[in-house]
Amino acid sequence: MTQPIEVDLIIKNADELLTLSPSFQEGSGLGIVPKGAVAVKEGRIFWVGKGEELSQKICLNRGGPEMDATGKVVMPGLIDAHTHLIFGGSRENEFEQRIQGLSYQEIAGRGGGILSTVEATRRSSFDELLFLGKKRLDRMLSKGVTTVEAKSGYGLSLQDEMKILKVMKALQESHPIEIVPTFLGAHTLPREFRNDRSRYLDLLTEEMIPQVAQERLAEFCDVFCEEKAFTLEESRKILETGKRYGLRPKIHADQLSSGGGAELAAEVDAYSADHLEYVSQEGIRKMAEKGVTAVLLPGASFFLSMKNYPPAREMMERGMAVALATDLNPGSSMTESLPLMMTMGCTMFKMIPQEVIRATTNHAARSMGREKEIGSLEVGKQADILVLDVPNYRYLPYHFGVDHVEYVIKKGKIVYQRP
Ligand code: NIG
Ligand code: FE
Repeated sequence: MTQPIEVDLIIKNADELLTLSPSFQEGSGLGIVPKGAVAVKEGRIFWVGKGEELSQKICLNRGGPEMDATGKVVMPGLIDAHTHLIFGGSRENEFEQRIQGLSYQEIAGRGGGILSTVEATRRSSFDELLFLGKKRLDRMLSKGVTTVEAKSGYGLSLQDEMKILKVMKALQESHPIEIVPTFLGAHTLPREFRNDRSRYLDLLTEEMIPQVAQERLAEFCDVFCEEKAFTLEESRKILETGKRYGLRPKIHADQLSSGGGAELAAEVDAYSADHLEYVSQEGIRKMAEKGVTAVLLPGASFFLSMKNYPPAREMMERGMAVALATDLNPGSSMTESLPLMMTMGCTMFKMIPQEVIRATTNHAARSMGREKEIGSLEVGKQADILVLDVPNYRYLPYHFGVDHVEYVIKKGKIVYQRP
């Protein structure tokens, strides 16, 4: 008989183990193993399958935790694919103004909106932003998030964008949540360039992108492609410049109007096009053809009381990978709760529970080119795992607005336990 292999952590007896792996095919598409078990070694998934097949092959390291998930669901850590994590200040005044009838665009026109957060963020020190960022990440962790895409974009000067990206780097080094940084210098035109668009474009393409890339402070380059932000031509130029410097393209597309953003995403081979409330038929067709992931943001529709939802069902029927994210930001979606977005994905976008789970795991991983590492429980992948105090996967979006997370495991370590 061969010696059993020692592992660092075992989770057993899960009522439903959602592997999200094609090796465990069944009706839901979530690769569910009943009475499932998972074993972790050196931060990676070492074994996964039916509990009864586990014991002969594998034994636990002395001191390694063995967790009993009887009555629980075990699944991959959630991935928030679109956030504006680092900003100073808050905009509850605008929230109140919107309730009283002003629109998001009207508020921006009166000196509120993105530019007011730019001012607050420029005034904030590195340490203040670090403190705020940590608090937000802690909240996310308690909701089961193990990886988050985070955009800059409230600095809009070389110095302030660098400050934000360096805060993200410091958080990456000190917080268990993994951060995927995106440069969004093209969030809006800063006030001081109001009468000189082309000079800001030059600053973006000739100074900011090169410096961000050189210091390796971002993996992706995003642009807010919208009538009031950047035109199609400007967006194309920014994303193409980013690509030349090794920054992978993403795009805020067709959020407030139909402007060809989805088509541009396909043209530049973007990893994702995000928002898409006003996406055109042609945009859907081209994105599907190129395999661009759609990142949908129900929190923004909800928070801005937008009546126009992105056509999620149609996108899925055309074979597109659809992800859901919080869009955490102080203006259009002030929340860290990805599970709440799952519920909204169901009720607002008519996605079914199995679809919103894929949308926050393997599809979210795809939107940032991380699908080989995270988003499913498969041998060799990073051991980012949740133990949820729910009886089955449908229960998770169904019982909304409360926390179901009992344990969060990141790279094989227990990093959160419900108090
Ligand atoms: O994703 N669309 C652009 N940016 C944010 C809103 C930013 C803000 O209002 O501060 C969004 O919705
Ligand atoms: Fe956004």
